[in-house]
Amino acid sequence: MTARIIDGKAFAAVLLESVAEHVSHLKQTQGITPGLAVVLVGEDPASQVYVRSKGQRTVEVGMHSYEYRLPADTLEAELLALIEQLNLDPSVNGILVQLPLPQHLDEALVINAIDPSKDVDGFHISNAGLLATGQRAMVPCTPLGCLMMLREYCGNLAGLHAVVIGRSNIVGKPMAQLLLNESCTVTVAHSRTRNLPDFVNGADIVVAAVGRPLFVKGEWLKTGATVIDVGINRIEQGDGTTRLVGDVDYDAAKDIAGAITPVPGGVGPMTIACLLANTVAACCRVHF
Ligand code: GUN
Repeated sequence: MTARIIDGKAFAAVLLESVAEHVSHLKQTQGITPGLAVVLVGEDPASQVYVRSKGQRTVEVGMHSYEYRLPADTLEAELLALIEQLNLDPSVNGILVQLPLPQHLDEALVINAIDPSKDVDGFHISNAGLLATGQRAMVPCTPLGCLMMLREYCGNLAGLHAVVIGRSNIVGKPMAQLLLNESCTVTVAHSRTRNLPDFVNGADIVVAAVGRPLFVKGEWLKTGATVIDVGINRIEQGDGTTRLVGDVDYDAAKDIAGAITPVPGGVGPMTIACLLANTVAACCRVHF
């Protein structure tokens, strides 16, 4: 069996187009332009790349992008003061504080200082609680993008067995909640799970978000399973160059899975598209 390739880039392009149409409609009919504020503390190279591309996409769909780059030694009180200023600013509809934060900053305190209605990452404890209780919430962007692709490729998800590998607040836990809300039977596994291949072998859907390169082996999969690979890992090649790989051994998995996301070009592009969709939704909730 050769898996269908789930083209996240093409998916994201369609979603971005729809976001751009919404933005243009808001401008023309209401004179409103949604705004997204992104806060980066420190110089983490990967975060700098993510923040730059978030800013670019925001402008491309016609929204206002506000970027705040703060030094690594920023005091917690200074960061909290900026968040309060953004909470009160009516031109800012979405606030994203790029994670990870430098060690001296309390991540939970900072995230929970964001107005939940502007929490386009869906990380605030109120949004996490709403999602966990099956209520309308701002949903974290990566799991939301994964769910959209799963719905497209699997149709109705009810009754399917999903194994989510990874238990982070950003991906694993909200992904499991979303799949439960779709009436999947959900197993949350992680790097310490015993007999992981046995769990994976029973899964109709595998979402790998464990952050370890090529961790999930092709032979673990059930024939025809749908595989969503959230991992983005840079590995050294024998010739001194580096290569981006996911958490799944793609080359082996593609001969067994029914459908699979590539890395790069799978989940990644959907995350930003969902962030912008969340920002438009946040803007509409304020105004309508
Ligand atoms: N760091 C890695 N992924 C994310 C994300 O989705 N949002 C934020 N704020 N930080 C991240």
